[in-house]
Amino acid sequence: MDLQRTTECEGALVSDDNNSLTVRDNRTGKEYDIPIADGTIKAADLGAIKLNDDEPGLATYDPGFVNTASTKSAVTFIDGDKGILEYRGYPIEQLAEKSNFLEVAYLLVYGELPTKEQYDSWVHEITYHTFVHENVKGFMQGFRYDAHPMGMLMASVGALSTFYPEAKNIHDPENRHIQIVRMISKMPTLGAWAFRHAQGKPYVYPDNELSYTENFLSMLFKMSELRFEADPRLVKALDVLFILHADHEQNCSTNAVRSVGSSQVDPYSAVAAGVGALFGPLHGGANEAVLRMLRRIGSKENIPAFIEGVKNGNEKLMGFGHRVYKNFDPRATIIKKACDDVFEVTGVNPLLAIAQELEKIALEDEYFIKRRLYPNVDFYSGLIYEAFQFPPEMFTVLFAIGRTPGWLAQWLELTQDTEQKIARPKQIYTGDRKLTFVPASERWK
Ligand SMILES: CC(C)(COP(=O)(O)OP(=O)(O)OC[C@H]1O[C@@H](n2cnc3c(N)ncnc32)[C@H](O)[C@@H]1OP(=O)(O)O)[C@@H](O)C(=O)NCCC(=O)NCCS
Repeated sequence: MDLQRTTECEGALVSDDNNSLTVRDNRTGKEYDIPIADGTIKAADLGAIKLNDDEPGLATYDPGFVNTASTKSAVTFIDGDKGILEYRGYPIEQLAEKSNFLEVAYLLVYGELPTKEQYDSWVHEITYHTFVHENVKGFMQGFRYDAHPMGMLMASVGALSTFYPEAKNIHDPENRHIQIVRMISKMPTLGAWAFRHAQGKPYVYPDNELSYTENFLSMLFKMSELRFEADPRLVKALDVLFILHADHEQNCSTNAVRSVGSSQVDPYSAVAAGVGALFGPLHGGANEAVLRMLRRIGSKENIPAFIEGVKNGNEKLMGFGHRVYKNFDPRATIIKKACDDVFEVTGVNPLLAIAQELEKIALEDEYFIKRRLYPNVDFYSGLIYEAFQFPPEMFTVLFAIGRTPGWLAQWLELTQDTEQKIARPKQIYTGDRKLTFVPASERWK
């Protein structure tokens, strides 16, 4: 499309299409009409704006993609101002209350709620692919005794690509389906074995008679009993936590999965990249920081002094604030309820009282009100995980298991999106140019 037009003073036609942006390049006096669609302009359209034909056109500079849409997606909708999170159009509150993780996984991956037959076959498939090749067990056992479980998870999920080399046939729908099933099935096995490894305990094989979440708890905690029976309230709470973490549109790890997946590599390698991104403290690690903070505060009496410190800019109130949610994080409300259910079984974590008081004080304080800072999903999730007796290193592994269907739904969407290209951002080069190389033998004389 030819976007360039002459300036108004030169008598240019004004476009009657209101759905466009008129840009005037003051360097040349030229004006350009750039179409607007879905509240965006195409960055490539800016390429037509140039000083002369020999120069590259205008580009945008957007570190961290704060205002750049990298894809069209029909998976997850978020309205941060209104506190709305929907998977495929269904509100998170309804899914957390009335659905279960595997049904939500199906919904995310295939875009619609399953029929009874589809659901039964999906659950059957996921349940019967939970075992991994014995060699996977062998190499997991080769990790150092104190290996971080996220490192083990990242390596082992990536290694699955070597067990299923056909996974590289990403344009074959049947093949894509089986790899998706395998990954959702095997992530709990790998995560649980990473946990057992750190404890020096034998790995527990999957029990296919159990539900997805029950089986995961069994692989984590089973000792000599014939069958591990988890309290149904704990099973439900963990299932809800998986649902809450299942997708969150183009976050850092999903972007990593899409970026790596855009090279058309197999999905195990793409998801391994997502696990790596989630490992970082800015993404998956905030709930651990909340626990450290609550422990440091130690008792309710110390809260006012702590809040003063936050207001003076000495530190942050961890678990508060969100880049997208500016009124409330809908997931935090659901987690608070799950907290009550879990503590009914495990007994109350003494840190809960501090957390609740801290939340109450902060929500009434002008500093937090003015900045629209509310509890986020991480404020209470660490307390729940601790009640399950998970060490903090496991928190992100739980997040990764929950996020796997979301990563795969986004990956599947990517493989079928004809507008996608290999991810390859531009840069603004700031280094030297055209230096003359002097060999070391002369430089070091
Ligand atoms: C999540 C987070 C990174 C979002 O950051 P953001 O959208 O870039 O918001 P900003 O950093 O621009 O913060 C806006 C203002 O609120 C303050 N603020 C944000 N989060 C705060 C917190 N948790 N405690 C105290 N002040 C906070 C900032 O200092 C800033 O104040 P200023 O305007 O006086 O400078 C941020 O709120 C944060 O670090 N929270 C704590 C960590 C956390 O819980 N992360 C998990 C997210 S799910």
